[in-house]
Amino acid sequence: MLEARFLLSISSSWCAFRPIFQAQPTHSRLDFAVPMDALTLLNHRNSEPKLTKPGPDREALQKIVAAALRAPDHGRLRPWRFLSIEGKARYRLGDLFVEALKQRKPEASEEEIKKTAEAPLRAPLIIVVIAKQIENAKVPAIEQLLSAGCAAHGILLAAQALDFGAIWRTGDNSYDPYVNTALGLSENETLVGYIYIGTPIGVPKPLPMLPVEEFIKAWG
Ligand SMILES: Cc1cc2nc3c(=O)[nH]c(=O)nc-3n(C[C@H](O)[C@H](O)[C@H](O)COP(=O)(O)O)c2cc1C
Repeated sequence: MLEARFLLSISSSWCAFRPIFQAQPTHSRLDFAVPMDALTLLNHRNSEPKLTKPGPDREALQKIVAAALRAPDHGRLRPWRFLSIEGKARYRLGDLFVEALKQRKPEASEEEIKKTAEAPLRAPLIIVVIAKQIENAKVPAIEQLLSAGCAAHGILLAAQALDFGAIWRTGDNSYDPYVNTALGLSENETLVGYIYIGTPIGVPKPLPMLPVEEFIKAWG
């Protein structure tokens, strides 16, 4: 854990931003003592499917959620909330997933049931990202959902910046009303994903080198 899996170089541009962050009283509790190159982090974000202990401690979790709270947010509606699931609660989540599976698919095999029960054990910490969409004259529900997606991205990036690995997962248990109700979601809430976070096992997968020019064209 002491050795960063990605070398994040000290960046003069990041340091230039620091006074801006520090000027925000809401961020004064955060520790910006480890300078890093923001673009390097963005360009090297890499999902890590194989995770083990240790996961983030309280302090790291707070930093990760603080990053999520910086999601762009039209109207400052704060259209998101999060659940942290760790330790024994992951087994309870597995039980819930199995109950839901048996309802969706009564003929599910023993193998499928076992896999479903063990799914939440794939990382020491799971953050459930929930979009809270409210009626708003200026901010359509889709924008609030997008903001929650950005919050999930913030979680992935912050986890990696803190030298953890993370992966955004969904699947049937994201869209099952039985699971959503058991997790406490209201009618106006959407489960955006389960972010699994822990210490990565193995080496990171190679990153695809996408040709930028194929994804952006000048218009007009
Ligand atoms: C909304 C959303 C849901 C996803 N659900 C799953 C999933 O259930 N299982 C999975 O293996 N990957 C899922 N992924 C993909 C991974 O999070 C990840 O993006 C993918 O493995 C590619 O790796 P990369 O992010 O490093 O490019 C999902 C991604 C998004 C954005």
